[in-house]
Amino acid sequence: MDSASPTTQSKTTDAASPRRETLTVTDNRTGKSYEIPITHDTIRANDLRQIKVQASDFGMMSYDPSFSNTASCKSRITFIDGDKGILRYRGYPIEELAEKSTYLETAYLLLYGELPNSTQLRDWHHHITHHTFIHESIKKFLDGFHYDAHPMGMLISTIAALSTFYPDAKHIFDPESRKKQTYRLVGKMPTLAAFAYRHTLGMPYVYPDNELTYTGNFLNMLFRTSETRYRPNPTLEHALDVLFILHADHEQNCSANTVRGVGSSHVDPFSATAAAVAALYGSLHGGANEEALRMLMEIGSVQKVPEFIKRVKAGETKLMGFGHRIYKNYDTRARIIKQVAYEVFELMGKNPLLEIALECERIALEDEYFVKRKLYPNVDFYTGLIYQSMGFPMTMFPVLFAIPRMSGWVAQWEEMLLDPEQKIARPRQIYLGHDTRPYVPIDQRK
Ligand code: CMC
Repeated sequence: MDSASPTTQSKTTDAASPRRETLTVTDNRTGKSYEIPITHDTIRANDLRQIKVQASDFGMMSYDPSFSNTASCKSRITFIDGDKGILRYRGYPIEELAEKSTYLETAYLLLYGELPNSTQLRDWHHHITHHTFIHESIKKFLDGFHYDAHPMGMLISTIAALSTFYPDAKHIFDPESRKKQTYRLVGKMPTLAAFAYRHTLGMPYVYPDNELTYTGNFLNMLFRTSETRYRPNPTLEHALDVLFILHADHEQNCSANTVRGVGSSHVDPFSATAAAVAALYGSLHGGANEEALRMLMEIGSVQKVPEFIKRVKAGETKLMGFGHRIYKNYDTRARIIKQVAYEVFELMGKNPLLEIALECERIALEDEYFVKRKLYPNVDFYTGLIYQSMGFPMTMFPVLFAIPRMSGWVAQWEEMLLDPEQKIARPRQIYLGHDTRPYVPIDQRK
């Protein structure tokens, strides 16, 4: 709407007049006002395009590098209230799922929207278990990597390579095809991860054992040596299962945004999720668990924590495993992980780095620098300590994040595909480069 009399000051609604779910914006360049609809406390960025100085102008855009205040989708999968420290999958609080559910049941919930009944759960287990094997050629492919190749690099490559084995995955609008690729992706993640790990050790690959649970089988493929049948330790199997539940989804984080963005070009889900693993690999995202443990090792002793915190406050380094774009309170996952850590330490012995981590947390939670910026431990602060105690090398830490996140990525990808409002993801830019200029022949260049 263009209004003849521009609004120049904000006014609260007159108690007598009905509440209008709109935002009135005045362009002070022209004095024109525009009334923009508000839905879910949000305006549509495209509604700004009507704001122009001249009719031939492109129209106003919003500028939001890093999407700090831009909703890119409507979602029904995961809810986070960062100020209150709330995380729910499909409405179920993460604390309840961590206590009462299993990773595979939670994965089903994320993907299909409801908790499965017993028949659905049995079928789901059956399908996942029967898609854990990988094509023998993947082994040859893995053999091409150096012994010290980072397992995340191997994981990205092997997931992408799956698209070449399953060309039917291109039928992304066929529900049966999507179902099959979901089984394959969730089922094969532990196998690909375990094979990458065994490759770095130069040890023979261990094939899946269909009698074991999802996490039990993963431990089998990682750690089995000469025994005829591997029996996972129930405490470690349970700890890993809880960690998998906590990592399964986290709404529109960097890798979820990646799987949606890449998937929006209608590429197959193997290629789209390989891109998501690449996004997760970075040290600000899933790679932070590896970096947090390296940091604790670098600090070396409780006495050296204050000195390290001083360096963080001087902007020389970061306290890895601290801070979050959304959580401005204690990351609820970190609280549960701390409990799991004690269960694992009881079995495996206390990780000597724990005291350093606790001292970092103690100082940070009292220090004005961290308090003012609302920086709390996130999911990656304590996980490394648990993984290390369980016998994982540091390079496997982000892989342990990626395996369970696959269910979240596939849920996000499918929701994006089926959303009629979604199109190919294609942001705008503010071009600040040169205006047109003639080509300069090489002999005339400075
Ligand atoms: N150590 C020290 N200062 C920090 C930290 C940290 N870990 N995190 C943020 N800050 C400071 C930052 O320098 C900034 O200060 P100032 O206002 O003076 O410039 C302020 O806090 C706000 O930070 P930001 O970088 O604007 O926040 P962001 O939302 O862009 O970044 C983050 C979020 C997670 C990338 C960041 O907190 C970080 O780099 N943390 C360390 C890496 C990490 O633990 N990542 C795992 C995230 S949780 C798991 C996952 O989902 O991936």
